[in-house]
Amino acid sequence: MKGLILVGGYGTRLRPLTLTVPKPLVEFGNRPMILHQIEALANAGVTDIVLAVNYRPEVMVETLQKYEKEYGVNITFSVEEEPLDTAGPLKLAEKILKKDDSPFFVLNSDVICEYPFKELADFHKAHGGKGTIVATKVDEPSKYGVIVHDIATPNLIDRFVEKPKEFVGNRINAGIYILNPEVIDLIEMKPTSIEKETFPILVNEKSLYSFDLEGFWMDVGQPKDFLSGTVLYLESLAKKSPEKLTTGSNIVGNALIDPTAKISPLAKIGPNVVIGPNVTIGDGVRIERSVVLANSNIKEHSLVKSTIVGWNSTVGRWCRLEGVTVLGDDVNVKDEIYINGGKVLPHKSIATNVPQESIIM
Ligand code: GDD
Ligand code: MG
Repeated sequence: MKGLILVGGYGTRLRPLTLTVPKPLVEFGNRPMILHQIEALANAGVTDIVLAVNYRPEVMVETLQKYEKEYGVNITFSVEEEPLDTAGPLKLAEKILKKDDSPFFVLNSDVICEYPFKELADFHKAHGGKGTIVATKVDEPSKYGVIVHDIATPNLIDRFVEKPKEFVGNRINAGIYILNPEVIDLIEMKPTSIEKETFPILVNEKSLYSFDLEGFWMDVGQPKDFLSGTVLYLESLAKKSPEKLTTGSNIVGNALIDPTAKISPLAKIGPNVVIGPNVTIGDGVRIERSVVLANSNIKEHSLVKSTIVGWNSTVGRWCRLEGVTVLGDDVNVKDEIYINGGKVLPHKSIATNVPQESIIM
């Protein structure tokens, strides 16, 4: 089987992390975000994976090459000269996606869930339509593509409304599809939106169905959602593979800690914390609902809450970080500093408090 991941642009909404590393390589649950998807595709029997990108992908090529063997997949980079939006990349990768008549998967690169690819493929074959969209329910549907059903035929989509201004329903497009190769014939070789242009054609043809997702789902393309997604991901791990979580006398609730991290027995970690490789956590540190990326150091008695600490950063003694604070790569926060909702760009040193949401350049 075949799959295409819409990797897209620069991931500006996940700055300052994406100033250093392309979004798909930012670690979610201690692994590059895109690896969760590549692994799930490979487990479902996908052998050809296209990564659709619109910038030069050298770093990604280098990082992902080693996983081709590990997962037994061919990864091809399909590079757009101009951004082709969400449908154009399918046309550009036509040769691979149409190499046989089997349907192919499409994924937005920023969605995290328990990818149900096998069940999705079975469901798709059974209804006989040209496409199936994975659907999930959310509280705030206006940020997403909303699916409205045909009353007479279960799961047949009657309307698809991208980012509705008025409420039409709360079942949304989870950013995961399976499509028959002939869908590519509906797309022209130019910037085209799958949500606004291609789906409405399929809806008109009464050939687009939805498949209900079980379990959690999150678009983790911005810091607030990245943290909420981390909480859900850890909950899912606790249910499905609790052995992957870390336990100990200084750990409360769900925590995923790389074995190379050095954590003081006098620190208190959790709930909902991910700590990357070679991180050092000092005595009396308190961390909750946060992600600390590789090689960072949090010194004695600091509190880190609802925060992403980027790679190679240092948080001094007696600091307090909260309110969806994000430190970029190689940030140095001096002792006794308070940061509330600050987004700190790479290589900065912070010596004065940041009491309100702001970008520190
Ligand atoms: N290759 C390529 N080229 N990829 C692109 C381009 C492009 O020009 N533009 C966007 N993408 C990728 C993004 O990187 C992302 O993985 C995906 O296409 C969707 O774009 P987003 O910018 O993240 O869209 P969204 O989150 O506002 O909405 C989409 O996702 C929602 C679920 O999270 C839509 O598909 C909604 O209908 C959906 O509900
Ligand atoms: Mg998105």
